[in-house]
Amino acid sequence: MAPTQDQIRERLAAIAAPGGAKLTEAGVLSDIVVTDGKVFFSLSVDASEVKAWEPVRKQVEDAVRAIPGVTSALVALTAERAGGGKGTPPPARPAQSQAQGHAHGAPAGPSGVPGVKSIIAVASGKGGVGKSTTSINLALALRDLGLNVGVLDADIYGPSMPKLLAIREKPETIGGNRLKPIERHNLKVMSIGFLIEEETPMIWRGPMVMSALTQMLREVEWGQLDVMVVDMPPGTGDTQLTMAQQVPLAGAVIVSTPQDLALIDARRGVAMFKRVNVPILGVIENMSYFVCPHCGTRSDIFGHGGAQHEAERLGVPFLGAVPLDMTIRETSDAGRPVVATQPDGPHATVYREIAQKLRDALAGPGAGRAAPKIVIEA
Ligand SMILES: Nc1ncnc2c1ncn2[C@@H]1O[C@H](COP(=O)(O)OP(=O)(O)O)[C@@H](O)[C@H]1O
Ligand SMILES: [Mg+2]
Repeated sequence: MAPTQDQIRERLAAIAAPGGAKLTEAGVLSDIVVTDGKVFFSLSVDASEVKAWEPVRKQVEDAVRAIPGVTSALVALTAERAGGGKGTPPPARPAQSQAQGHAHGAPAGPSGVPGVKSIIAVASGKGGVGKSTTSINLALALRDLGLNVGVLDADIYGPSMPKLLAIREKPETIGGNRLKPIERHNLKVMSIGFLIEEETPMIWRGPMVMSALTQMLREVEWGQLDVMVVDMPPGTGDTQLTMAQQVPLAGAVIVSTPQDLALIDARRGVAMFKRVNVPILGVIENMSYFVCPHCGTRSDIFGHGGAQHEAERLGVPFLGAVPLDMTIRETSDAGRPVVATQPDGPHATVYREIAQKLRDALAGPGAGRAAPKIVIEA
């Protein structure tokens, strides 16, 4: 029997907040989401009190896990109570030591994911432009360059990795509370889609998004990764802010189609990451041109070149153009991404060229600039 929210709340009432008040009366508790025995919620506290709250967070998590019927519990601390106007600022983003290749085993910055050298976000202003398709093929292409690669599906509203990789199994737990990523094609993969049923309505509120992301970043045995590719949901919402705040992103890759409208959205995406001091590693133009499978004639159906032009205008690198191609769509939909299943084909070549540029951008002098301070406009 799955526990009810009331049962959980009752249990939490017996736990004290750092000031001594009952946890349930400290005004920090988010909504509690229970799906299928899995419990998520967050404690939203002042940024200055995070240290004092961490042991409480742990205690709460353990207590919830001990409730009969609970199969897993994730409790995240979110320091989002910055208050209006001159309130406590959100914690500064740590300098991006990760992207500068800190040694394995060295303690990560407060927000780094231990063992993971560079985290890159694959983002776009709007949905359906091919972020997920690009993420997985890019991850495979980076793997082909000899890198250890992980894929984090951060699209908690519409996870794609289960389908793109035809993954139906659930991740194993290690030691009760850590998850083992699923391995496919030599990639380590984690998706919220592995943890929840497809039919579960996903009414993720902001703090829930943070909880789920935090779990996927920090409670998964990623091991040693050169690159973690994060497939982002579209837009500039909670996930983007959470990622920018919680981990030192080496940078963002913006995927765009050539259409103008998409470009306006892409511009928004670029602006958003710039605002939170995440370097833009480059723009990829997806569905850029169409090569007729019968006669080989190339058609620029959407007006090819828009993204390249836009990248120049915005002063961000252009990483390459991926054609609109039936093979890419069919292999994606069949859970057999093209770079894995046709490694010698023309599509894999395109993705590998982009991956090379990306790797160079990660290693280059512009990468890993220390971010002076995070500034998030309300
Ligand atoms: N280059 C491409 N050629 C053909 N189809 C593509 C290409 N890129 C993506 N698609 C298809 O477009 C649809 C949306 O792609 P997806 O990667 O899910 O986008 P997003 O993650 O941005 O929402 C999918 O059906 C996918 O197979
Ligand atoms: Mg997607």
